[in-house]
Amino acid sequence: MDAPRKLYVKSFGCQMNVYDSHRMADMLAREGYVETNEPAEADLVILNTCHIREKAAEKVYSELGRLRKSKEETGQQTLVAVAGCVAQAEGAEIMKRAPVVDLVVGPQSYHRLPEMLAKVRGGARAVDTDFPIEDKFDHLPAPSLAATRKRGPAAFVTVQEGCDKFCTFCVVPYTRGAEVSRPVAKIMAEAQRLAEQGVRELTLIGQNVNAFHGTGPDGRTWSLADLLHRLAEIPGIGRLRYTTSHPRDMGEDLIAAHRDLPALMPYLHLPVQSGSDRVLHAMNRKHGRDLFFDIIARMRAARPDIALSSDFIVGFPGETEAEFEETMDLIAKVGFASAYSFKYSPRPGTPAADHGAQVEESVKTERLHRLQASLEASKRAFDASCVGRTFDVLLEKPGRLPGQLIGRSPYLQSVVVNAPPAGIGEFISVTITEAGPNSLAGKVVSVPASASERPLAAMEA
Ligand code: 5AD
Ligand code: SF4
Repeated sequence: MDAPRKLYVKSFGCQMNVYDSHRMADMLAREGYVETNEPAEADLVILNTCHIREKAAEKVYSELGRLRKSKEETGQQTLVAVAGCVAQAEGAEIMKRAPVVDLVVGPQSYHRLPEMLAKVRGGARAVDTDFPIEDKFDHLPAPSLAATRKRGPAAFVTVQEGCDKFCTFCVVPYTRGAEVSRPVAKIMAEAQRLAEQGVRELTLIGQNVNAFHGTGPDGRTWSLADLLHRLAEIPGIGRLRYTTSHPRDMGEDLIAAHRDLPALMPYLHLPVQSGSDRVLHAMNRKHGRDLFFDIIARMRAARPDIALSSDFIVGFPGETEAEFEETMDLIAKVGFASAYSFKYSPRPGTPAADHGAQVEESVKTERLHRLQASLEASKRAFDASCVGRTFDVLLEKPGRLPGQLIGRSPYLQSVVVNAPPAGIGEFISVTITEAGPNSLAGKVVSVPASASERPLAAMEA
């Protein structure tokens, strides 16, 4: 028998890419590829790229430079594929700029990879950045038991792709295309299979996941709340999350789901980008700061222990010091458990990139520092407030020291526990004893009945 071919996949950017990388690996497993962590020994390298900010996009070209050098040094006949949003946006340019690249494949065409690889092995180069009418997910196989176990008990499921919002800074509507929701039956089948393979936590992902409107098995259009209610009934699924959301799509039924569904974690990632009404309008976010405060108030009424996370952009074109201060004020008023923040990065083809009043780099840097200092203080305060509380923790992976396991709190914090009386893929109840900069430490209180009596296989194997 031939030695298996080796595949190295590197994912940049968001969770959609992590999910897509898994699905590509699942498909290529059928073609005889085994994953490796070593690019130098790979027969095929896939870079699954991100185009959201300039820095993210540039990483592709430096990675390709490294690959070219390593190929020259080792003489290895590695095939190089560029996938993801840079592939979609700059396919032709990549081919021109980087001769080391054998194929370029956009996010909607991953199911065509085997055909493309066959072509490439014949000596040609291949580019596919179509938005095909067939659904790639229908042609991408489900993960094997071994693959799911390796990835751990918390899994992503894409339920929605693309975006119709056209925020003026954002490339997503161009790279990922129009907003499309997957049919409920297909999501259910995928979720059920993952649960049977030992997955305990599902994060539903989409660029605009709370705008989900998938066709249900009853022919009706289901909302994200409808979908969450159904997923919560799957045996073995103890936790549900979803990301990423838009304030405009935070429906009443979704807020109520946070009150009614114990499996839905008390944590919401809701990007707001700015605290200034004028900037929000210029960003085409289609709402002002009051709507954001109003959602937070309703969420807290529905689920008093909810924690919040968000995305922020500083230095959007025309942002004044006073407008930036309104963002700082919003952060102080809300109190975030975590957040992502970025300097505005002009993206070719987006309306804000051509705006005359670009903010100077040094001003952006200074604002980002102030914003991040405030967000970091907010995060630390939240982590400190967890000391003394008792949470269910889902054990996910081994810790650094023998006997230690690392799990996640309901708020996505890493929790380190010593010698827990349960294994990876199980829930334990933990009282938090210490909050460090990157993780919490805790002491085991009990193994919940749900962990020890669960009929499905645990994940230690
Ligand atoms: N510049 C900086 N940040 C951006 N984001 C999206 N586009 C840009 C851009 N051009 C940020 C937003 C979004 C997150 C995924 O990335 O905050 O919510
Ligand atoms: Fe980009 Fe705005 Fe769509 Fe989010 S909602 S993906 S920021 S266009």
